[in-house]
Amino acid sequence: QAGVFTYDPGFTSTASCESTITYIDGEEGILLHRGYPIDQLAGKSHYLEVCFLLLYGYLPTATELENFETTITRHTMVHEQMINFFRGFRRDAHPMAIIVGVIGAMSAFYHDSTDINDPRQREVASHRLIAKMPTIAAMAYKYTVGQPFVYPRNDLDYASNFLRMCFAVPAEEYEVNPILARAMDRIFTLHADHEQNASTSTVRLASSSGANPFACIAAGIACLWGPAHGGANQACLEMLKEIGTPDRIPEFIARAKDKEDPFRLMGFGHRVYKNHDPRATVMKQSADEVLDLLGVEDNPLLQVAKELERVALSDPYFADKKLFPNVDFYSGIILEAMGFPTSMFTPIFALSRTVGWISQWKEQLSDPAHKIGRPRQLYLGETERDYSDIENR
Ligand code: SDX
Repeated sequence: QAGVFTYDPGFTSTASCESTITYIDGEEGILLHRGYPIDQLAGKSHYLEVCFLLLYGYLPTATELENFETTITRHTMVHEQMINFFRGFRRDAHPMAIIVGVIGAMSAFYHDSTDINDPRQREVASHRLIAKMPTIAAMAYKYTVGQPFVYPRNDLDYASNFLRMCFAVPAEEYEVNPILARAMDRIFTLHADHEQNASTSTVRLASSSGANPFACIAAGIACLWGPAHGGANQACLEMLKEIGTPDRIPEFIARAKDKEDPFRLMGFGHRVYKNHDPRATVMKQSADEVLDLLGVEDNPLLQVAKELERVALSDPYFADKKLFPNVDFYSGIILEAMGFPTSMFTPIFALSRTVGWISQWKEQLSDPAHKIGRPRQLYLGETERDYSDIENR
């Protein structure tokens, strides 16, 4: 076509990569982390053990796991000076806006773990990010609700620490509910990594330029925020609330099918899964369990979600386009039942995915052939032309 520059058909995008971390079969609805199926990890393992698996490629011995958990636990506090950074935000800032800023700022506080060429510093940065994300996410939440920050405690497990940092107040003792802690830990595991999704690809592209690990993870957090990606869990719960009752479902199904209407069913569909998302299956079971144990099994949003899933999956439009509930469809119902506002759903996704981003960042750096990510384009603009003076235009 006139004006279209051909591009080298042999050109392969640098955004694609080779990886040994996570395997997805979208047609079969399979998700493996270092070969282990996600439903087994969610049912039998726990988040910090999955972190070790993603980072190092094998399940740890008891001693290795204890040492890893001790290292993470002892890195959960943030530099006291960082507290001032939070105070620069308006109280109504979205927690994701705060977290993007604070994680990026970590490179100004932790100079001893920003040199990507030093394996020791890479290790320290990895542990710092996994350890401090819950603290920073909880601080972002506390700041937006006007409550004092709660320091982490070394006698609590990862999920319990996060729940306490979010929900404890100085005025009374806070006992972590072990049921909620188990559900929280399972949500962390279900979001830990997911191959080359948009935010992970962002982290890999950023790491390919040699940017420091905190800047790379901040880039991934920014990308995850979008409602088509990690922001879908917040958007999905808001959609379920807007639907309100099962009798309004047909109206929303019609809108989702209307090409003229930009509305899509949040929590439905996936770039890769053209069969069920195995994480959604586990999340749905967890929603039933948690709400039952919390005595809210007749939660109206859960009823709407289950009826919406039933109606959509029986509709040829969704069946033909192979649209199924994804990881975000049920997660918001559990998180809201646990006491989180919708604005904390994507921060929890980001917290969980930090280990996936870091594992992929390390893998990107370990590839001796790794070059700076530089995707090309198919140019469809004007061919060369001469500048015209303004009086001649
Ligand atoms: C995550 O990549 C990952 O791994 C991401 C993630 C991870 O762990 O990192 O799994 C996390 O991001 C999950 C996705 C969360 N997003 C949402 O739930 C938002 C709602 N879903 C969509 O916007 C959509 O499904 C996408 C963005 C996820 C995928 O969109 P695509 O690439 O357009 O999807 P598709 O190829 O699956 O769409 C096929 C057709 C299209 O119609 P046609 O152009 O063929 O006519 O289905 C339509 C789409 O318009 N479609 C939907 C729909 N999703 C796709 N129609 C109505 N409702 C929907 N939810």
